[in-house]
Amino acid sequence: MKSYFRPEIDQMSGYVPGEQPRMANLIKLNTNENPYAPSPRVAEVLAGFDSAGLRRYPDPLATELRDEIAARFGIRRENVIAGNGSDDILTMTFRAFTDANHPAACLEPSYSLYPELAKMQAARMIRIALDPEDFSMPADLLEQAREANLLIITRPNAPTGNSFPLAFMREICANFDGVVLFDEAYADFADDNCMAFATEFDNVIVSRTFSKSYALAGIRLGFAVGARPLIDGLFKLKDSYNLDRLTQLIGRAAFSDQAYLAKCCAEIRENRSRLAAALAKIGFRVVPSQTNFLFAAPPDGDGQNYFRKLRENAVVVRYFPGDITGRFVRITIGTSAENERLLELTRSFYTNAR
Ligand SMILES: Cc1ncc(COP(=O)(O)O)c(C=O)c1O
Repeated sequence: MKSYFRPEIDQMSGYVPGEQPRMANLIKLNTNENPYAPSPRVAEVLAGFDSAGLRRYPDPLATELRDEIAARFGIRRENVIAGNGSDDILTMTFRAFTDANHPAACLEPSYSLYPELAKMQAARMIRIALDPEDFSMPADLLEQAREANLLIITRPNAPTGNSFPLAFMREICANFDGVVLFDEAYADFADDNCMAFATEFDNVIVSRTFSKSYALAGIRLGFAVGARPLIDGLFKLKDSYNLDRLTQLIGRAAFSDQAYLAKCCAEIRENRSRLAAALAKIGFRVVPSQTNFLFAAPPDGDGQNYFRKLRENAVVVRYFPGDITGRFVRITIGTSAENERLLELTRSFYTNAR
């Protein structure tokens, strides 16, 4: 049958999101969701919500939410755009800055959505390989990315969990002749971030999400910060009503509760250290993490086998096939009880065999 699609769409396989399994008594540690509920203020907003308001369109500019975000970061509303998840921000960014004559660059391994977004634009994707030993950046990153019009730096990175030196990030912003997008989906779990660069440089965008640290993956909310001309340009190509009324209200309620955010993130960081130490003791290689997950290789370097054995016991983590990534699995930090169960199984798989 004749295809009506553009050739680049025909050639795409499409992004495959992490599995949302429906098993009984499942321990779900595969998509980096928060193990805790969102701020209690979210439940209050939902309980008091008047459904009659839904007959009206939402604010297309998400004005109040952007004002609140701007106030928190000491910037202006004009420096902020909100999206239907940070995936929406990424889509806008690829539409804005890439096409067949404007390549993109990203880290490898990194978030596997980026190459798919490049394909939709018929844009070449330059993949900058991280060091296979410690997943650090190559010193000649700028040289490798030279032809790109959009450089995406996932910081901290996924699925590896590590971060990159801030001084090098500044050097990249100052010297890259194109737009640098810092995907900071996991920045709330990290020691530092690049938010200040978004208004210091005229070529930098920083994106954040409510899906991880705010425990709101279910509503789809993200935002980006940048110099006004960049944000103005993104507004031209966003969907007209990309954030519904409920999402705006829920997002504002969660964002207003920074104390709750800090408490959740502190707990996750503490559990992260504990789990990393316990896995290392069993003989795992654990990449130092600045996120809410661990990238960890079992003693025999067979990530797929470990993934399978956990799954047989209703613990689901994420496995990324590949020469280097295939040695690891990515484990979302769960509640203490969930992490304990994972450890108990892991000890049973590897301790007896040694
Ligand atoms: C690095 C990175 N960026 C962006 C996203 C997308 O997040 P959102 O739920 O805001 O679309 C994810 C989700 O897993 C991610 O890992």
